[in-house]
Amino acid sequence: MNPRDWPEVLALARAVLDRCDWPALGEIYFHWGGEAFWAERRPGVAEHGEALARRLLRELPRGGASLWAGAGVAELPVLLAEVLLHGREVTAANLRARECEVLNAAIAAVAPGVAVRYLPADAREANRPRAFDHLGCISLFTDPETWPLLSDVAYGRIAPVQIDVGQFVAEREQARELAAGLFGRLRRPGWITTTAEEVGWFLEQAERAGAVVDAGEDLVATAVVGDPVGVLAVR
Ligand SMILES: C[S@@+](CC[C@H](N)C(=O)[O-])C[C@H]1O[C@@H](n2cnc3c(N)ncnc32)[C@H](O)[C@@H]1O
Repeated sequence: MNPRDWPEVLALARAVLDRCDWPALGEIYFHWGGEAFWAERRPGVAEHGEALARRLLRELPRGGASLWAGAGVAELPVLLAEVLLHGREVTAANLRARECEVLNAAIAAVAPGVAVRYLPADAREANRPRAFDHLGCISLFTDPETWPLLSDVAYGRIAPVQIDVGQFVAEREQARELAAGLFGRLRRPGWITTTAEEVGWFLEQAERAGAVVDAGEDLVATAVVGDPVGVLAVR
């Protein structure tokens, strides 16, 4: 039987997390020393996931659909809560196929009947032609592997004098294209969940589309890097 209340869903999220292949996830996320890193952060994944899920389900309507771009371990409790407590559909896309495999194996072992699976796909293309009333995007535009320079700039890790302007412009155009592709899949009225460091990418797209954006005041921390996450209402 599917869990139907918060304690049951959170227990399920913990059970799935317990079943994950953590040495494999350690390698995927941190290359070396990753298992130890996760050992420290794992309790936080369930905790932060709960905080984000509670925050999000206050805003999102029942029965809609979310597109999670670059979804990983951290989003797992939220995905389960959306599906099980709010009757929503989730599409969780991640370009790291191995991470999808590890997470899907844990879900299939613990909660085979629950409609949460990670797709090894570009979020811009995942589950086309479905439109979504919610877009989730956490630590995607700040990912140092995908955008080394944008990430350094977003976190203030680089001095202006050190910026390779050509590389910066190239990364910014790619990121803009990604933001445009994701924003294009959002129905209005809709919602966007993202970090303070990434919100600018979506505000630019909203302005171009003539959309009105209201930013919620309550922020919660991401599980892995601790960046503040908030929810935008877009109409
Ligand atoms: C830094 S990780 C963030 C993982 C997770 N959201 C978190 O907060 O821990 C960024 C992820 O975004 C994925 N990614 C980058 N571009 C993507 C795209 N166009 N579609 C789907 N996933 C993408 C990468 O493969 C990577 O797994």
